[in-house]
Amino acid sequence: EDKIRYLSEEIKRLKKERRAVILSHVYQRPEVQEIADFVGDSLGLSQQAAKTDAEVIVFCGVHFMAESAAILSPDKIVLLPEIKAGCPMADMVTVEALRERKKEIPGVIVVCYVNTSAAVKAESDVCCTSANAVKIVSSLPEDRPVLFIPDENLGQYVARQTGRKIHLWEGYCNTHDKLFAEDVLAAREAHPNALVLVHPECRPEVIDLADAVASTTGMIRFARESDAREFIVCTETGILHQFRKQCPDKEFYLASDKLICPNMKATTLEKVHRALVTLEPRVTVPPEIREKALRSLERMLAVT
Ligand code: 13P
Ligand code: SF4
Repeated sequence: EDKIRYLSEEIKRLKKERRAVILSHVYQRPEVQEIADFVGDSLGLSQQAAKTDAEVIVFCGVHFMAESAAILSPDKIVLLPEIKAGCPMADMVTVEALRERKKEIPGVIVVCYVNTSAAVKAESDVCCTSANAVKIVSSLPEDRPVLFIPDENLGQYVARQTGRKIHLWEGYCNTHDKLFAEDVLAAREAHPNALVLVHPECRPEVIDLADAVASTTGMIRFARESDAREFIVCTETGILHQFRKQCPDKEFYLASDKLICPNMKATTLEKVHRALVTLEPRVTVPPEIREKALRSLERMLAVT
């Protein structure tokens, strides 16, 4: 407790000294979310990274998020306090494999989930997040084939929502894909009055049980605006901190205690503090990749 308080104060002091902004995903540890200037979903975080006038961006999230910040704000120092914090789903698509697949589908438009490396974004046409995937795909010309990478569950959900046939990739989130319909049914039996909030990285069988399917920020908005008092949450446990903070009079139950992303938990206050002291570890993107990846991200931000 004392250590958390001391580190939080030091981080706030250093943040000013370094002219830094701290961005945190909602899956981060509660004490990390608390020292952030902005807490949000992947879309909100890239919008913040694009518009901040800070000199240093400290990204409390995973590698692809810091890369997106470096692409959108190339003249800023982007720090990822735990440099090994990656996203296993992002690693399920490589540039080589994507090039092969593109050759098989003439005229294809590649829609890449932001959970991809900068190099894969550079090989894609437009990015999306879970908050705008349906909107982005709907905005594409109907006479062109669409390949959605790398999340198969989200791609399938978008196909259902848009009524379009979409070419899919065999990628998945280790954390969300472990949640099964039986977990949600058991939670619903324990809490019969609760509404079920589902992230679209979950399996179709889980999505079928949802009262609302949304990005993390979308779920929080839904809970705030809903008349319901109890919710079963089908996404990573870190979000509970924001739910309880923003809806203190409502109850939130995690659908399963399996819903933990170890990579999102790898960033600690100690590491944030060290990053602000040393201005390391930095995430950079080579200019030739950056330029192309920026186009995919900018197309997304223009549609959103
Ligand atoms: P959102 O916060 O955009 O819903 O993303 C979820 C996620 O898994 C990020 O890694
Ligand atoms: Fe990747 Fe899933 Fe972790 Fe998000 S929650 S960083 S998609 S592994």
